Amino acid sequence: MVPGREIVALPDRAALAEQAAERFVSIARNAMAVREMFTVALSGGSTPRDLYALLATPKFSTQIQWTYTHVFFGDERAVPPHHPDSNYRMANEALISKIPIPQENVHRILGESKPDDAARVYEQILREFFAPTLSRVGVPRFDLILLGLGADGHTASLFPHTPALRETARWVIAYFVDETKKNRITLTAPVINAAENILFLVAGAEKVQAVRAVLRGDYRPDDFPAQLIQPTQGRVVWLLDREAASALGNKVRNQRKEHP
Ligand code: 6PG
Repeated sequence: MVPGREIVALPDRAALAEQAAERFVSIARNAMAVREMFTVALSGGSTPRDLYALLATPKFSTQIQWTYTHVFFGDERAVPPHHPDSNYRMANEALISKIPIPQENVHRILGESKPDDAARVYEQILREFFAPTLSRVGVPRFDLILLGLGADGHTASLFPHTPALRETARWVIAYFVDETKKNRITLTAPVINAAENILFLVAGAEKVQAVRAVLRGDYRPDDFPAQLIQPTQGRVVWLLDREAASALGNKVRNQRKEHP
């Protein structure tokens, strides 16, 4: 059992989004209580969309002090913010445009820029924003980083067999991902692993092989980069829907749907 790691199986995607929203709010409230600020890096892809839409509803949105919340991104595709592939676009449509968060609190990765410039600029934003705490921990320490899992075991834009996996000096890098035939910009593993809380959201039968390899297989991070995510001091929680959790047999806590 990896210390500080929790794996929870939910009946379906809706229950997964609900559980993720509850944990998001809890982490935000704890951060606010301690530092009057909450920093979160959003994930891209499709799975978190339901979570973002839920967070935008009054049930959850009113529990978060958006004025003291700073939204970042774990990774971005090298496309403009209105492009269908943009992670910012997805998060903005589902959440950001629907909550009272000050524009200056949303720190998007400039996908429209040259990828290397976007990475350099984003790293500078992190250096300036997290400057007050850098002396203590050395890298930005997010209160929460949301992550997904690709069917190939990638997370954020840390793809198998790429130099991105071995990057330990830079916090943000850009590179051409053969698999997606696109340039990507991503936080590197040291920054992700410095987070206070990491929440993986994984759903669908197509993720079974990756879930089994990452959570139950031998340590082969070059093949399954999500295995790199082992926070130094923080907690990592995997929220899986029933299909993705089938990879683990009955050795996972099943979170029953709350019956009214
Ligand atoms: C991205 C994400 C990526 C995603 C996984 C899972 O930019 O696409 O950062 O790591 O989380 O590919 O994506 P789905 O949620 O769409 O399955």
